[in-house]
Amino acid sequence: MKFRVKIGDIRIGEEEKASVLESLEQGQLSEGPKTMQFERLWARYIGTKYCVAVNSGSSALLAGLHALIHDRRRPRVRPGCKVITSPVTYVATSNAIVLAGMEPVYVDIDPRTFTLDMNQVEDVLRKDPDGHAVILPVHLMGYVNDMDAINDRARRYGLAVFEDAAQAHGSLYKGRRAGSLSDLAEYSFYIAHNIQVGEMGAVVTSDDGLCRLIRRIKANGRLCACRICRRGEGKCPHRDAEFDPRFTHDLIGFNFKTAELHAAIAIPQIGKADAIVRARQRNVQALNEKLESFSDIFHLPIYSEDVSYLAYPLVIRDPRWSRERIMKSLEESGVETRPLFGSIPTQQPAFRYLKERYEGRLPNADFVGKNGFYIGCHQYLETGHLDLVSEAFSALVREGP
Ligand SMILES: Cc1ncc(COP(=O)(O)O)c(C=O)c1O
Repeated sequence: MKFRVKIGDIRIGEEEKASVLESLEQGQLSEGPKTMQFERLWARYIGTKYCVAVNSGSSALLAGLHALIHDRRRPRVRPGCKVITSPVTYVATSNAIVLAGMEPVYVDIDPRTFTLDMNQVEDVLRKDPDGHAVILPVHLMGYVNDMDAINDRARRYGLAVFEDAAQAHGSLYKGRRAGSLSDLAEYSFYIAHNIQVGEMGAVVTSDDGLCRLIRRIKANGRLCACRICRRGEGKCPHRDAEFDPRFTHDLIGFNFKTAELHAAIAIPQIGKADAIVRARQRNVQALNEKLESFSDIFHLPIYSEDVSYLAYPLVIRDPRWSRERIMKSLEESGVETRPLFGSIPTQQPAFRYLKERYEGRLPNADFVGKNGFYIGCHQYLETGHLDLVSEAFSALVREGP
């Protein structure tokens, strides 16, 4: 097989195999003890009271937004309300806002850390202080937003804060983990992320009410919020009721339940989470050193020990170079690349109905969306891989723009 530097890689170790086998031998495919164990471990790792496992990060976003809508303590969060969010992210964040019947409001980003520009957040809030109900920052590539400033605006304007921490497993903000800094947060365990399950997600919160709502929404809005049904053991809290709570639904929800085998794969990885973060940081440091001589062509990623890197993002700063040509050349040299998502309201076709409204208003997002791309920095890269990246960039620059 050709030697390649992939965006993400996976090695299913003995621990993961044993964990999956255990579930198979117990005949447990739907959510069971492994899912509960995963939820306990992930909540503990992040530093929240609760974690609710779901079948993807996209589902986690939708479940979280619907929980906020159903939360009686937050009357302003309802279909039609405005959600302040980032234009540069994987499209799932915006899709969830629209699918929850809400209106995304985009503000520009910092071009180096992809975090929300708090001056623009303040501007939109001042112009319409009652229309906005949620702020949904995205910790893209692991860079955590200015959560103190966000929580301050949330208090002043009465907003809920929902972190999209899909790409920030283990990132730190003032010593606390991303995802523990607001009302609730979402994670994806898709394949290239630090904890890799293929397809799985989670919502974390320390709020009892939100946790109960999320548990019910992910199970088609059923009345009961128990993690695992104990009815067969006679332990159901509704055991004396005339109705069966499993088939009584007082909310309209989704089936976002995850699979036990996926939780089984995730559990052993949580124990390795800090080592994974460190390995990725070391690779980012090494690549920054190797590519430093090209920093007049590319903005290299800012290095920080607080960032848990999803990948190694680069933004082309020399206008003579085209992203298409760079990505093609790197791919031919064996280095996988991905575009940095594009600015949703101006560059994503599904959101073209917003293009006119946002044209020219998000210059940093438009620039990063057009000129940003990323390569892998995952924990399985070895010296040979890092050298290949360096050689691929040297060959590209030798050819010229
Ligand atoms: C920032 C962000 N939000 C949401 C998601 C959606 O997660 P999933 O692909 O698990 O549905 C992703 C996926 O990578 C993401 O990167």
